[in-house]
Amino acid sequence: MDFTSNHRPDDMVRITTPELAQAFIDEAVAFTCAQVGDGKVLLALSGGVDSSVVAALLIKAVGKQLVCVHVNHGLMRKGESEQVIEVFQNQMGAELVFVDATDRFLDKLAGVADPEAKRHIIGEEFIKVFAEEAAKLEGISFLGQGTIYPDILESEASVKAHHNVGGLPKDLDFELVEPVKLLFKDEVRMVGKQLGLPDGMVYRQPFPGPGLGVRCLGAITRDRLAALREADAIVRAEIGAAGLDIWQYFCVVPDMRATGVRGGQRAYEWPCIVRCIDSVDVMTAEVRELDWALLKRITGRILAEVPGICRVCYDLTPKPIGTVEWE
Ligand code: XMP
Repeated sequence: MDFTSNHRPDDMVRITTPELAQAFIDEAVAFTCAQVGDGKVLLALSGGVDSSVVAALLIKAVGKQLVCVHVNHGLMRKGESEQVIEVFQNQMGAELVFVDATDRFLDKLAGVADPEAKRHIIGEEFIKVFAEEAAKLEGISFLGQGTIYPDILESEASVKAHHNVGGLPKDLDFELVEPVKLLFKDEVRMVGKQLGLPDGMVYRQPFPGPGLGVRCLGAITRDRLAALREADAIVRAEIGAAGLDIWQYFCVVPDMRATGVRGGQRAYEWPCIVRCIDSVDVMTAEVRELDWALLKRITGRILAEVPGICRVCYDLTPKPIGTVEWE
């Protein structure tokens, strides 16, 4: 395979078996070792499928020459930063710089209600935090990236600017290391599985770079964000326990209140909207018809366990007209 090319040859074998994944890993490791030599590689590790698989590959290829930086912007799903630390630092022994930038992001976002302004702040702040961390490290000459083939195709078609991990600093003078850039998503997952990454990471749902920031609607507050994170964790746990394979499932908490009654007292708390959709190409999406008992179980748990939420709704909107995310 030609790791220097941005073009996937028509006759390139699709990675569909563990044996093919292993053959790819062997080739990618050999190429990366030759490319990097005794240089040092920096990798922004979000915990998404693509950057996680690249991290696992680079650990195998260059081990101690890799420095991973994980920025927690405070908008991660419950347990996700912890999983990144557990898998890459504790289990795989990677050098991992963990930056808890929660306060920094949430302070910048305070009072900002416009969705595009929120996205902009999150993207810009991410670049700043990452650049600051990179500046503290010495002797880095390579930047690892989880670019995959659809990113290249979309960039070429100018469908969207290629954004890995929220867009990295463009003025960092590093040579790129992009070992999975000719692979499709299913192949990246196959390689991740072969590298021993946990299923929860390999089959992770697509998750927007701005994270829960676009699901905590309007101006983000810490208490509403905390309620969203807890409700989201319940939805994930219940759908996981039911063994369902669904493209994306998550919660949204709007910045409005609804009346309820709790312990004989009037409550005035947030509603929570549950959204479960299936999609093949992200351009269109269908609402998954969930079993009624499962919906009732999710509702009961959110109402009983999440402070501040007194109402649960299920979003029946397909895409189009509704986009996947509410913001
Ligand atoms: P929409 O809401 O446009 O979402 O139907 C399509 C897919 O893209 C994800 N999404 C994002 N991903 N940054 C990202 O990295 C974003 O700002 C963003 N907004 C939406 C969404 O979760 C869905 O998979």
